[in-house]
Amino acid sequence: MTSKIIGTGSYAPAQVVTNDDLAKIVDTSDEWIASRTGIRERRIAVDEGTTDMAVKAARRAIDNAGVEVSEIDVIVLATTTADNCCPAGACQVQAELGADKAVAFDLVAACSGFLFGLNVVNAFIQTGVYRTALVIGSDHLSKIVDWSDRGTCVLFGDGAGAAVIQASETGIKHMVMGSDGMKGSILSCVARTGGNFLNGKTPELGYLQMNGQEVFKFAVKKVPECVTQILDESGINIEEIKYFILHQANFRIVEAAAKRLHQPIDKFPMNMDKYGNTSAASVPILLDELNQEGKLKRGDKLVLAGFGAGMTWGAALMEW
Ligand code: ACO
Repeated sequence: MTSKIIGTGSYAPAQVVTNDDLAKIVDTSDEWIASRTGIRERRIAVDEGTTDMAVKAARRAIDNAGVEVSEIDVIVLATTTADNCCPAGACQVQAELGADKAVAFDLVAACSGFLFGLNVVNAFIQTGVYRTALVIGSDHLSKIVDWSDRGTCVLFGDGAGAAVIQASETGIKHMVMGSDGMKGSILSCVARTGGNFLNGKTPELGYLQMNGQEVFKFAVKKVPECVTQILDESGINIEEIKYFILHQANFRIVEAAAKRLHQPIDKFPMNMDKYGNTSAASVPILLDELNQEGKLKRGDKLVLAGFGAGMTWGAALMEW
């Protein structure tokens, strides 16, 4: 017994912010951003948060799967930008959906979050604990980005992607995930710090800080490494893979992965031009786009992989 993705959904806020729009608030240009990252525009949430986006993506995934909300046993929301410290965003999603039979919790693994969530629910399903799961990646990065820092603000966007996963004879073949906390400082965002009644300090909220070149080096090494690992451990020839659905941070990272894996770039769909880096949402948004466009056929072999703050990484090999 394994688990299978039986439905996908995604949601991106309506407000488009182009590179030219950003060039009006920081010293940058469409040419610089597009040539370094492949990003042309991103969606920014104006009057909605992580949970709102998650609920919209989840409803679409549930419709696409054709399951009843009452069938969902577990809801995992992967996010680094939950609306509240508590209750967990997943519990808010549960309430909005009326999924009263489910257990719901959040998972923080930054851009690898959706893959970590998939791995967790797959383990629950494989061991017979649960049968049907909802995994959502939703991030509202625009609220933690320093909009005066051109080195980071041009890279990110807001959005959500979701998948319904159910027990099945075929589907997920193998997953890997990993973390290297020793590299944590290269990509971080300090949360509520410092304040209590004894030290008299006011709690502060930080902004996303990144050493772009170190993150880049980490990604171009780690992504091909974990893809190679799942293929080797599964005994699957890389030529059998139809699509490599990678975290959409930067087209140069995706191109470098394709080159290191000796695979043609057309096996690596990309959509960061429209959304920027949506963190935990990026892999499920891309997966949903491919699904909605009819590009995925039952039996296709897919690899999903990503990396993110932590530093973290993860990959999944599945038969669609
Ligand atoms: N517009 C114009 N110039 C800029 C901008 C900008 N938006 N940002 C930086 N620059 C300047 C820098 O100040 C620097 O100028 P200098 O040479 O005068 O000092 C110059 O451009 C080159 O800067 P680099 O940082 O060396 O540029 P690089 O080619 O490395 O590209 C980038 C930067 C795009 C951030 C790249 O390093 C990258 O993509 N890294 C990976 C980032 C990533 O994937 N982050 C997401 C992680 S996933 C997660 O968990 C959130």
